[in-house]
Amino acid sequence: MKSSKLLDLIRITSVIAAVIVVSVFICIAASRTNILWGDKLLKKTPTKPHVIVIITDDMGWNDVSFHGSNQIPTPNIDALAYNGAILKNHYVLPLCTPSRSAFFTGRYPIRDGMYGYPLRAGESRGIPLNTTLLPEHLHRLGYSTHMVGKWHLGYQSDEYTPARRGFDTFYGYYNGYITYFNYTISESGQTGYDMHRDNDKEIKPDWSHTNEYATDVFTDEAIRIIDKHDSSQPLYLHISHLAPHASDAEETLETRDFAEVNRTFAYIRDLQRRKYAGMMSAVDESVGRVVSALSQNNMLENSIVLFMADNGAQTIGFLENHGSNFPLRGLKFTLFEGGVHGVACVFSPLIKQKARIINDLFHMTDWLPTLYSAAGGNTADLGVIDGVNQWPTISRGNFGKRNSLLVNIEENLEAAIVQQYKLLKGAGRLYDSYYGENAGDNDPSAPAYDVDAVISSPASQAIADTTGTITTQKKILQLRSKNMIVCKSFNKYANCSTRCLFDLSVDPCETTDISEQHPEMVQTLEHFIDGYRGAIVEQSKNPIDPKSFPVNFNGVWMPWLNNQKL
Ligand SMILES: *[C@@H]1O[C@H](CO)[C@@H](O)[C@H](O)[C@H]1NC(C)=O
Ligand SMILES: *[C@@H]1O[C@H](CO)[C@@H](O)[C@H](O)[C@H]1NC(C)=O
Ligand SMILES: *[C@@H]1O[C@H](CO)[C@@H](O)[C@H](O)[C@H]1NC(C)=O
Repeated sequence: MKSSKLLDLIRITSVIAAVIVVSVFICIAASRTNILWGDKLLKKTPTKPHVIVIITDDMGWNDVSFHGSNQIPTPNIDALAYNGAILKNHYVLPLCTPSRSAFFTGRYPIRDGMYGYPLRAGESRGIPLNTTLLPEHLHRLGYSTHMVGKWHLGYQSDEYTPARRGFDTFYGYYNGYITYFNYTISESGQTGYDMHRDNDKEIKPDWSHTNEYATDVFTDEAIRIIDKHDSSQPLYLHISHLAPHASDAEETLETRDFAEVNRTFAYIRDLQRRKYAGMMSAVDESVGRVVSALSQNNMLENSIVLFMADNGAQTIGFLENHGSNFPLRGLKFTLFEGGVHGVACVFSPLIKQKARIINDLFHMTDWLPTLYSAAGGNTADLGVIDGVNQWPTISRGNFGKRNSLLVNIEENLEAAIVQQYKLLKGAGRLYDSYYGENAGDNDPSAPAYDVDAVISSPASQAIADTTGTITTQKKILQLRSKNMIVCKSFNKYANCSTRCLFDLSVDPCETTDISEQHPEMVQTLEHFIDGYRGAIVEQSKNPIDPKSFPVNFNGVWMPWLNNQKL
């Protein structure tokens, strides 16, 4: 038995070796004579894939149409999802700063004090300087690294800003949000401008755009980077949208053109929700433009495009945006699914098994080792991280490497998931709803889902041009219906101020506490959480420093302290 396997292996290996020798020979011959291929195809493509990350701010589970809502069509985003892999169980932190910290470091934010309330403008803290971020790692592998949009991970001194933490260039804002047309944010009664263009030489405000809609500004900048890129070098482009976050402008939900939004979404009666739909559809357009630009520059064939939400929607409360997490319980700031079970999909021609839903657990921290590994790096270089390399799962359909994750530990509030079980302790406020009334669930006035619009979207066309095929209508509808989360009852929600145990495989909407029936599972999860207590670093939280105020910097939010590093 064993020896016949060995023989097989030897046979396979020699066949592979022969194929390699022959192909190398053909390639050399072809490049000498330039007969077999035209110049275009011989243009050097890097062996490492381009990595394009698109992250939205406070977007809800039900705000993309590939999850089943008809209310806000997102044909371009849907095209990415259906032609790539849909991550149905992707977990994030419930807030911007912690979630982005997890993405860039591959570490649970408890390890770096980056959990808890998001960074406020003028607060002197950031991701500790002794951590290495994804762009630094990719830079080391030869990538050209660029970021547009929101940072929100610290800027008290130059060394905390993105262009000092691995990005060759940064165009965007340092704080949690800005106004969509004049790029300002107010904190402690101080209003300042927050748009910057930074590189290795300069950290400076940028005034090149005025009164242009932020989503378009970031898209234009991203496309400029793609067009200018020397495609023989691998690119890491991080597009971090402001949308669909609310701003502190007079109209907190700012659309590019309200009259047009009124026409397109006349069927959405709730005006705030209608504006939200306008914000989301601008994001969808942006995705279409970016994917088209990649295709036009012959880069899409060798790209990984990741689209995801940083956390659930802020459906009510401070800076509410009228997003919808339906049918998930809870919202941003909470450890219920509505806060931490996030939208995510990834498209790449390098995915060998396309058009599928991945049900395995994913966590925000997984992207660092996953993308690093896809880029040819050895994950052993990454130090102490919590993320696991999921590239084999994404690209080849291997079994997921994760069967547990820490949702978060905060003072009197913690949660973790092991297999299909979730333990949640101290969810003091009761979220007896999905919070998003009028928000797309069975909106009877919404038009039916338009599969043709998905197939004819710019993203889908670009994918067809690059790969030669796209997912069929029938398969799209199949994927979409499998992708929906259906909940039986919304009538009774368990109170979790002490603790709740949920079986997410049958109760994804967290209605029924089963801790009494499964004390052994409660214990397993408690042990799991306890295992992380020793790693907790006290939450970094500082008062607003008046030295940071824009009045000191010509009306701009700027780094205000001297660098610490020697
Ligand atoms: C950075 O330094 C802090 C304080 O010494 C330490 O707790 C933390 O583990 C360090 N982080 C890394 C990634 O080494
Ligand atoms: C910027 O936008 C906000 C909200 O629309 C507005 O209150 C403020 O006056 C604007 N500032 C300028 C300079 O236009
Ligand atoms: C959009 O519609 C609302 C509600 O009918 C109306 O109040 C608003 O003025 C309209 N806005 C524009 C720019 O047409």
